[in-house]
Amino acid sequence: MTERSTRAWLTPEIRQQAEQLIARMSLDEKVGQMTQYDWGFNPINPETGVSVRDLLRDEIRQGRVGSIFNLSGAEEANELQRLIAEHTEHRIPLLIGRDVIHGYKTVFPIPLAQASAWNPALAYRTAEAASRESMADGVAWVFAPMIDVSRDPRWGRIAESIGEDPLLTSQYSRAWVEGSQVADAPGQATASCPKHYAGYGLAEAGRDYNTVDLSDRELRDVILPPFREAVEAGALSIMASFNEINGIPACANEYLLKTILRDEWGFEGIVASDYNALQELIVHGVAGSEEEACELAVLAGCDMDMHSGFYMRHLPKLVREGRVPASVVDTSVLRILAVKIKLGLLEQPFVEVPSVEAAEAARVQFTALAREAAQQSIVLLRNEAQVLPLQKSGSSIAVIGPFAHNRKDPLGCWAFDGKPEDVVSLLDGIRHAVGSSAAVHYAEGCSVSVDTMAASGLTEANIEQVLEAARQSDVVVLALGESLEMSGESRSRTSLDLPGAQRQLVEAVAALGKPIVAVLMSGRPLALPWLEQYASAIMQAWHLGVQSGNAIADVLFGDYNPSGRLPVTVPRSVGQVPIYYYRKKTGRPPGGVYSSYYIDSTTEPLYPFGYGLSYTAFQYSAITVSDASIGVAGKSSVSVTVTNTGDTAGTEIVQCYIRDEVASVTQPLKKLIGFCRLQLAPGESGYAAFEIGERQLAILDKDMKRTVEPGRFTIWVGPNASSGDAVSIVVE
Ligand code: NOJ
Repeated sequence: MTERSTRAWLTPEIRQQAEQLIARMSLDEKVGQMTQYDWGFNPINPETGVSVRDLLRDEIRQGRVGSIFNLSGAEEANELQRLIAEHTEHRIPLLIGRDVIHGYKTVFPIPLAQASAWNPALAYRTAEAASRESMADGVAWVFAPMIDVSRDPRWGRIAESIGEDPLLTSQYSRAWVEGSQVADAPGQATASCPKHYAGYGLAEAGRDYNTVDLSDRELRDVILPPFREAVEAGALSIMASFNEINGIPACANEYLLKTILRDEWGFEGIVASDYNALQELIVHGVAGSEEEACELAVLAGCDMDMHSGFYMRHLPKLVREGRVPASVVDTSVLRILAVKIKLGLLEQPFVEVPSVEAAEAARVQFTALAREAAQQSIVLLRNEAQVLPLQKSGSSIAVIGPFAHNRKDPLGCWAFDGKPEDVVSLLDGIRHAVGSSAAVHYAEGCSVSVDTMAASGLTEANIEQVLEAARQSDVVVLALGESLEMSGESRSRTSLDLPGAQRQLVEAVAALGKPIVAVLMSGRPLALPWLEQYASAIMQAWHLGVQSGNAIADVLFGDYNPSGRLPVTVPRSVGQVPIYYYRKKTGRPPGGVYSSYYIDSTTEPLYPFGYGLSYTAFQYSAITVSDASIGVAGKSSVSVTVTNTGDTAGTEIVQCYIRDEVASVTQPLKKLIGFCRLQLAPGESGYAAFEIGERQLAILDKDMKRTVEPGRFTIWVGPNASSGDAVSIVVE
């Protein structure tokens, strides 16, 4: 079996320094380290008029706070660290956290978009840039990456995820953890916080915070691999999820927090609860009181209490009464102090307030990265009669729709620090690209917001403007999608259609018979089979961040040849959900009456996982296997040649999938085991090889042991989960 190892960071020196501090701390001070508050929450209590921040300042002065999050910049961070330095005995700096999900001030594409690049190395760079920007504001702890395998587009948090596949998510998990954990100098370093551990993406019916019920097999096969990867990459913390696993909410779940995380994986960092999750133990109905909730969480291995204040209120008493051993508190405090020491906060808790010039210079560099990331995030779904790329000169282009000249929504969910004025709208991106060589006609048509999701909003005057813009043009670019408030936390939907009057807008424009290019700016995959009737080209552009308009224009005009591939299956209808490629055969695969099918729909998706078009064509040939027969501990490899047969340079994302044909437990029809990017000039051929060994072949057998079982394996190499050439390997 392959040896897996966790990157060791808790050195004997760090441990010793932490232990020496602990030996001098009072119980209250220790529990203070385990306590975290949201600084941005309700600054003034509306009932009492008391400033919550003043109360928190008092708590900080008394050494009763270990971490704060949601501060607003370097000055505020320094002010609070000064309270610690001037008023507390042991001067243990605050660990300042923040939700830095896809960029800080420079907003990069939402994670689901970045996942569409199938380029973890690029995510490493965006994560690093985000950490550097936030670090300059005193943030030493970013609550990212979000690595919940997400298979339900109704769930708004799919936008924050890497999509449906454990391997793709695992590769991004490692890159994101490594990229975001900057370690420049003492006090110039950041910790990551992979989340939400575990299973949060499987909320029933796609409704956020809903019950999760999953087998240990699914947990270990699908949900945990990205977390294991994060731990092995050296993640300094992990956030426990809101949901229950096997009836026990994650922050009180010993099986998750101890058995798996500590005993099996050797994780040494901080386990933080999610927001107010200790309080929610009472709401879930597993704790009858605050004290009980506190006891359950701390004994299960939750080191830090996010915002409920329960630890601070009750833990000292529980220790004094012997209900919680003092050693449990010491162990949690050791982890928290170790992370602070590792980040160099004890040496340098303050940050230098960056000069305007320095901040500006960094922004320029990050803006170029934002454009690169946005270009790679775009997935071309349809391009009939090669309507794309568009000509820049001599043409007339209509740019229509609620997202055409919109600078807010491309920021996406979780972009509190991004500013709409930094966003390049699609209209502006197109105008910059064509200059004076093409005529551009703009009309908004209708607006879209959560409050008007079902409303029409399309007046006759609007329609007239839209038709006027379209009539004057050779081609219509329709910017459609969802506003930023429609995805992210607590933003579940029951429909996967375009909200508001957008379909009417499409139909009205289509009646003119001009070629339509639909640009979908959404936080989730939308089920729009009807759109194919009207749009010659469809581009999934997600919420792309500050460089949205430039990147989309780059693709529209062929300055960037699209290379994005779907990290999620796109359903035909909400009724097919959950639909994902990594599914089981069942005893009755689809194929007629009394099979696993629908009487009113195909079981096939609209677009499969891994799918995406290019302006060039790639031909796969010569799939070969190095050893068609190997032993259980043997190795083989599968390779292909890919040729760019078009006349444009392009990038193909070559994907390799496996199926274990007969095993002791049912296996998925296909499982992604590798992928690579080939950048090919016209006429050029490239070679892709994928290793086949224990890591790719092993399954959890009926006794839950990782085993390579003898038998036949089918291996596909191709451009997406629904196609490709196959070979077989026999394991003897
Ligand atoms: C709740 C969310 O689930 C989590 O992702 C986030 O980091 C915390 N709130 C803090 O804002």
